[in-house]
Amino acid sequence: MSGFREVLLKTETREYPIYVGRGIINYLPKFMDGFKNSRKCAVITNKVVNSLYGEFVEELLSSSGYVVHVVEVPDGEECKTLRVVERVYDELVDLRFDRYSTVVALGGGSVGDLSGFIAATYMRGINYVQVPTTLLAQVDASIGGKAAINLPKGKNLVGVFYHPQLVLVDVDFLKTHDVRDFRSGLAEVVKYGVIMDREFFNYLVENRSKLLDVSSDELTYAILKCCQLKAMVVGEDEFDRKGIRAILNYGHTVGHAVEAYSNFTLRHGEAVAIGMCYEAKISAALKLAEESVVDTVCSVLSGLGLPTHIPVDVNTTKLVELMRRDKKSVGGKIAMVLLRDIGNSFLVSDVPEEVVVEVVRGW
Ligand code: GLY
Repeated sequence: MSGFREVLLKTETREYPIYVGRGIINYLPKFMDGFKNSRKCAVITNKVVNSLYGEFVEELLSSSGYVVHVVEVPDGEECKTLRVVERVYDELVDLRFDRYSTVVALGGGSVGDLSGFIAATYMRGINYVQVPTTLLAQVDASIGGKAAINLPKGKNLVGVFYHPQLVLVDVDFLKTHDVRDFRSGLAEVVKYGVIMDREFFNYLVENRSKLLDVSSDELTYAILKCCQLKAMVVGEDEFDRKGIRAILNYGHTVGHAVEAYSNFTLRHGEAVAIGMCYEAKISAALKLAEESVVDTVCSVLSGLGLPTHIPVDVNTTKLVELMRRDKKSVGGKIAMVLLRDIGNSFLVSDVPEEVVVEVVRGW
């Protein structure tokens, strides 16, 4: 085999490979042969991805001796409900899935979340493989074992840490990726440079026009680098309890609030791009970082066609209230990942509200 790179994710409880390359979906059966499985698998996917790749993946696996069943679930967050979970459990029971059967998550972050949750809980845990097809899922959501579903009262309220047997990142899937979603995913790529790797950040700045070309080697390299950085962070703080994994939430306190405020008309990455700019500005307002850091973060994001500012007509009180509901928040305080510099970030669990308000109102 050639043409792919392997990143090893090693935690206290697990060790598994992340394969990154182009056209490597063809190796899926071979990779799956590497772990104990009963050659029975369910490919969980949504309508769009199914219409593009479902038949191909089904044929690929069945021609390698796997008994394959494609399970189509609703698009986006709509699939992350207890109702869908129950329906898929039912299908697995009917298919006589056993402890060594495998769930293949073929799709973006939502399909990955649902599939991980099902694999973790069906018969107390069966095999699963992540095959992310969106940029956001390739660089973040598919890696690190977080899987959650929504309740009517909130997003990701019920979940588990459960790692896949392997992650297969085929960059060629991005050739059919919606352009707005692709750009939105680039915000998370930039995030890695800003929070922990200045050299990578500089690489992104220098190559930003090439990153917009889904066929470029620069994009493949950037995705590989993000997978390596995420594997490193998860390896050090698997269960998100040491404040290390939390830095991956840079831009997300303001970002999630703006995303919810926009009633999800903004893409996640667009909201995170805005959040990254504001959280840089809050870092500067608190004299933790130089003002030039703010300009640097904003200019690379706007150069990638991403938004950098909160729309003028937002209600600051409502936005701050949404920030307080962030999962990092303890005791009603505003928690946020702030910057000392490009490549140097840390979690602050009590950001002064007046500074947040001043920056959101006045910038
Ligand atoms: N997406 C953030 C994390 O995996 O911790």
